[in-house]
Parts: sequence; C-alpha cells; structure tokens
Amino acid sequence: MNMISNPTPQHGIVMLPKVRRLLKCPAKSVFLGGPRGSGKTTDMLLDFAKNVGRGFGHHYKGLLIRREFKDLKEIQLKARVLFKDVFKATVSGNSPMIITFPGGEMLIITHLKDETQYSSVHGHEYQWFGVDEITTYPDLFLINKIKSSCRSKIGIPIRHISTGNPWGLGRDIIKDLYKIGEVRHSTIIKNTQLKSSSVYIYSDMFDNKPFVNNRGGRDYLRELNALPEELKNVWLRGSWDYVVANFFKHSWKQEHNIVKPFKIPKRWRCYKSFDWGYSKPYSCGFWAVSNGSDYIDDQGQNHNTLEGDVFRIGEDYGCEPGKANVGIFLTPEEIGDSIKRTQYDIEQKYKCVIKMGPADNQIFSNQVGQSIEQRMKINWDRSDKSSGSIVSGLALEAAYFKGAWPSKHGRDNPGLKIFNTCNGFIRTIPLLMRAETAVEELEKHQENHINDETRYFLTWLISGKTMTQKTMNF
Ligand SMILES: Nc1ncnc2c1ncn2[C@@H]1O[C@H](COP(=O)(O)OP(=O)(O)OP(=O)(O)O)[C@@H](O)[C@H]1O
Ligand SMILES: [Mg+2]
Repeated sequence: MNMISNPTPQHGIVMLPKVRRLLKCPAKSVFLGGPRGSGKTTDMLLDFAKNVGRGFGHHYKGLLIRREFKDLKEIQLKARVLFKDVFKATVSGNSPMIITFPGGEMLIITHLKDETQYSSVHGHEYQWFGVDEITTYPDLFLINKIKSSCRSKIGIPIRHISTGNPWGLGRDIIKDLYKIGEVRHSTIIKNTQLKSSSVYIYSDMFDNKPFVNNRGGRDYLRELNALPEELKNVWLRGSWDYVVANFFKHSWKQEHNIVKPFKIPKRWRCYKSFDWGYSKPYSCGFWAVSNGSDYIDDQGQNHNTLEGDVFRIGEDYGCEPGKANVGIFLTPEEIGDSIKRTQYDIEQKYKCVIKMGPADNQIFSNQVGQSIEQRMKINWDRSDKSSGSIVSGLALEAAYFKGAWPSKHGRDNPGLKIFNTCNGFIRTIPLLMRAETAVEELEKHQENHINDETRYFLTWLISGKTMTQKTMNF
C-alpha cells in the first residue's frame, strides 16, 4: 500500500469517496470537469500519487502542464505542500518544477503554451500525463503529441488526466471528446480500435466536504451564489449548457436568425465568400440578397423581406467531421473542385446563379508562382482587411443579426438569416467568445473561419462592390 492510500489528517488531505473512486477508475483517459473549487486539481495530484511508493522507482515519471506561466504558481504550491509533507519529496525549480520522490519517481510541473514548445518534452517517456485547465487550450495538437509519447517499459498502466471548467476556447473540443451531455458522467467509453478508454467524471462542489464545510468554503459559496444566473450555472453548477462571454449573445437569436430553406426568387442576387484553410478548416459561404420581393416557403406560404436582407443558403466547410477547428488538408485545386460541386448543387436546388464574392486576401499572393486563387480556378474579389475592419465587421454582423428580428412597427434594417442546413455556421457562430482584454474583438485561436468569411461578405456587400463587379464566374 502506498502512502496516499492512508494519509493522516494532519496532512490536510481527506481521502474522500470520490477520490477513492478516481484512483480505482481503470479508464486510460480521465477528464475531471465541474465547478470551481470542487477539488479537481487536488484530485489530479492524488491520481499521480497513487503509483508513488509502489516500487516503480524512476520508471514512474509524470508530466503536469498548464498553458500559461502565470497560472503555474497555484498548482505548484498545492503540489509542493502535498508532496513535500506527505511523501517527503524534494522539490526544485519553477518552470519546470521537478518533484523527486524518495523512491526515484518523478513529477515535472511546467507550462507549455502550444505545439511549438513540444520539443522541450520530446524524447521523454511519461507514464502519467496531466493537464490542468485543459479547456484553456484552443486545440489539442500539443496535448495529443505528448499523449502519443506516453509509454511504460515495465507495464505501468498509462494515465492521461485533465481538469477543466465549462468555458475557455477548448470547451467544445473537450465536450465532444468526452461526450459530455451525450453520455452520463462516470460512464467509461471504450474505443476498441485504439485500445483506449475515456471517461468524464463530474466533480461536484458538494462532494468536496473539507472545503464547503470550512468557513473559507462557505464564504466562497456565498460569493458564487450572488453571481448573475448565467455565471452561476457555469461556476457553481458546472453546467456545460451555458456559454459565458459569447460575442453575439445580444444579437444572435436562433428563433429569428435561422430559417428553413426556400427557392430563391428570380431577381435576388447570389454570391459566395471564402476563407482559406489547410490544417485549419477552409470555409466558403453562399449567400442570397433580397431585392425586397417576397419568397415562398416549402409549405406555399408567403414571406416578406426587406431589400438587402441576406440569407446564407449553403456552405462548404472543410472541417474534419466531429473535430472542431481541424482542417481536412485539401490542396487549393481540391478546395476549388469541392466549392464548384457545392455551388452546382445549391444552384440546382434553389434555382439561382451564384456569382463571385470576397475572399481572404492571402489567396492572391503569388510569391511562389501561382496564387491559391489561380490554383483554385475560381475568381474572387479582395476582402477588406484595413485597420479597424475586424471591429467594424463584427459590429456589422451583429447589426445584421438584429436586423432580422421581428418588430411591432415593422423592420427598418436588413437582416441576416441562415438556412437550417448550414450546420457549421449554426455550430460555431453562437459560441464565439469575446476577447478577455478587448471586448469589441474575438478571442484569438477560435474556430472563426466561418465568421471571417461572413464578415468579409457583409463588409463587401455594403461597400457597393457588388454593383460594379466583373460578372466572371469560374
Ligand atoms: N481531498 C481533499 N481534502 C482536503 N481538502 C481538499 C481536498 N480536495 C480539495 N481540497 C481543498 O478544496 C479547495 C479546492 O480544491 P482545488 O483547488 O483542487 O479545486 P478545483 O476544482 O481545482 O478548483 P478551480 O476550478 O478553482 O481550479 C482547496 O482549498 C483544496 O485544498
Ligand atoms: Mg483547479
């Protein structure tokens, strides 16, 4: 029996039932999700400790990371107190902090921001890999690389474990990966092909009795209870159904901004817009712009529109199915062909002709011979990338979303509605987060390609370029 099975109360750690369950959990990959202060980080440290003092010696090595250096301190402090006191480990350094146990086991705690820093851990073998606050990572490239290098020469079961709250840029990736909301928590999901298993364990604040029963914990709970309902749902109840700080929270309304597809009236104009992507998704949006005439839905019902109302009638989103923000590595030629096929289908289905629209300007660069545009064999117009264009473009999008809302006195401004077949748009746009530091901008590194191509289109549309454009199609 190792020391963690039997900590004494003076070490301040209580062997809670939930910790016992975690230590026994056979899944290879564990995600501890839940509200703040529920004990996730402590549980993760104890999970590493379960194999200390069992005779594995230097064959048992763990790596524990956080994304930002500034966030390391707190977890290092927790680890130092726990491992120095209970295990008589020696602790050295800051980043990395190296904790060496009397038997030779080792835990390294450091910060790693992204894939570019992988080389600092490449070549090492870890049997235990922990990520604190995994949802702060916008993607899993770095984490998957480290995971793939975890192995044991002497057959110690490999463990990947992470903690996280239901917000942060990687929120949706983690939600998908651990099937949160689809499969009941604590259910082990087996992947026989990969010979792997994973589980989402809900970390309940009220299971952390040592914390909620002491005065500090009670004060903390009182503070959480006083938060606005939306934040309370995330921070206190650990709900994954709520999104804080989403950019279009006050302008996007599913009931007003999503519409069933219909045949495009003859005189409406149709265009497309494009954002280039290779390892990240590329996105092409197809648009119809009303001339003010009515349209008829599939039930034969008439609908009024305002001149300038915009409808997203289709999309070609090059995203790996089920993997948020991962591209499908198509060449420009392949993307060009795919867009042409999608365009043809849309034109047939909705009886319209789609013309050229704006694209991300990087496709026009021909420093290495042919430009991406030339290789795609589709002509595009330039998009507005002038200074301030992002902020004004985002404001324009918000105004268009709101423009579609019904009003008692009739609508004044054109609106933007999305055909319910545009799954990529409907999945990504409502979740886009504001930047923490600049509230008029989006947080960087999000799945924002559809949004970019939408912004290019609306900015281009109101700039009036559509009137003078060359009528060349592919
Ligand atoms: N098994 C335990 N025995 C005693 N105290 C514990 C135990 N688990 C957690 N605590 C205490 O509860 C508090 C919250 O724990 P911890 O920081 O691990 O939670 P968390 O879920 O990671 O929080 P956050 O979301 O803010 O990172 C800390 O003060 C910690 O020392
Ligand atoms: Mg924590």
